[in-house]
Amino acid sequence: MADKNATLKLPDGKSLDFPVLSGTTGPDVVDIRTLYGKSGMFTYDPGYLSTASCSSSITYIDGDAGVLLYRGYPIEQLAQHCDFLEVCYLLKYGELPSRSQKDEFVNIVTHHTMVHEQLARLYQGFRRDAHPMAVMVGVVGALSAFYHDALDITNEQHRIISAFRLIAKMPTIVAMSYKYSIGQPFMYPKNNLSYTANFMRMMFGVPTEEYKVNEVLVRAMDRIFILHADHEQNASTSTVRLCGSSGANPYACIAAGIASLWGPAHGGANEAALQMLEEIGDVSKVPEFIRKVKDKHSGVRLMGFGHRVYKNYDPRAKLMRETCHEVLEELGLHNDRLFKLALEMEKIALEDDYFVSRKLYPNVDFYSGIVQRALGIPVAMFTCIFSLARTIGWIAQWQEMISDPEYKIGRPRQLYKGATRRDVKPIDKR
Ligand code: SDX
Repeated sequence: MADKNATLKLPDGKSLDFPVLSGTTGPDVVDIRTLYGKSGMFTYDPGYLSTASCSSSITYIDGDAGVLLYRGYPIEQLAQHCDFLEVCYLLKYGELPSRSQKDEFVNIVTHHTMVHEQLARLYQGFRRDAHPMAVMVGVVGALSAFYHDALDITNEQHRIISAFRLIAKMPTIVAMSYKYSIGQPFMYPKNNLSYTANFMRMMFGVPTEEYKVNEVLVRAMDRIFILHADHEQNASTSTVRLCGSSGANPYACIAAGIASLWGPAHGGANEAALQMLEEIGDVSKVPEFIRKVKDKHSGVRLMGFGHRVYKNYDPRAKLMRETCHEVLEELGLHNDRLFKLALEMEKIALEDDYFVSRKLYPNVDFYSGIVQRALGIPVAMFTCIFSLARTIGWIAQWQEMISDPEYKIGRPRQLYKGATRRDVKPIDKR
């Protein structure tokens, strides 16, 4: 019997007790799994504002305090002391790797970076001007047609090899999506480069000359991956979990996550935030734009601001702003027009009661577009980069769900407001 209970008083006067469960930190939960059986009623929570869909040990967010922990480690410390593959190891296994564990993990990932040669032909089926996220959804979903030797999710070895293939091949697939869109040849991965340097070379290198690695830019890209790696039960992660709950193969689940991340309210916000800054163009236009944002009828939002969970500064936004500054300094772009506009917009918004009263602060997407643009990544590729980084989070959450003893297919119910039973009339009588 749980040591804490919540009592629900029903309209017919009956009272029902439900156990209150506590995690290691964060809000308690009321375990209402028996509610429907005991009362014939459902809970109602569109958008899941007050619903915990699962228990998890991977990522913890305190939205009021602006805290983000991966397996207990503050994102600030991971961004400073680790590289992305160390963070992948941490999210996947729950602990930071020792030197030998890291070397083994990196070696396995490195030797899975190539894709099946026929996969390159799949790209030919897309228009060159297709949005790269459309290509990503298609190509990642199609991986199950190439790696069908290990799709049984009940087989641990299959889960392990699928996870490594996805972590290792996403940079190659993203870079191929970019090269295809600009009509340049695909670049094969090079095993003597780090994960992120390899990605930058596959994106910006050409077969006709040696690619010169810029360690400052590689470190910035690596940090962008770390900041986007996981984020609790957000829309795309919940999509991956729900898709995986039916037993679908991991490639289909990750493709579903990519599809969900594409939305402008979610991972597509960095693309939308940069387009917003381009449209505003100049600091003098900010007050007029802010006026439109406050006008409910305009439908205009300050993209890259606000968050369902963070009601304080998104800790990733602070780190992204620092990274932005470093990259612009390295590239001699410290007077970058959009960066200065973004800084001014942030300052104005954070002094405006509309944003302060609604606890709207910059989120991870507000600065990430500016730094990616400075790195030479085209706007349409921003969410592909987000997908690359989030793949490890999706995989860790998917693996955790499958090994959860409470694992079952997800099947929400509804509050039905449609027509009650009625009979069909012959068409001449309708
Ligand atoms: C990501 O969930 C995650 O963890 C996601 C993510 C991750 O790592 O996986 O963190 C990544 O998706 C970050 C969020 C990126 N999205 C954007 O930047 C798009 C702009 N932001 C929003 O549309 C909005 O803030 C959401 C979608 C992020 C959150 O929306 P909520 O929690 O449903 O809040 P809401 O829409 O109910 O807004 C509450 C109020 C409303 O005003 P009132 O009706 O109370 O008067 O705040 C207003 C909204 O109109 N509001 C905004 C706003 N966001 C909310 N007004 C202007 N600009 C905004 N950006």
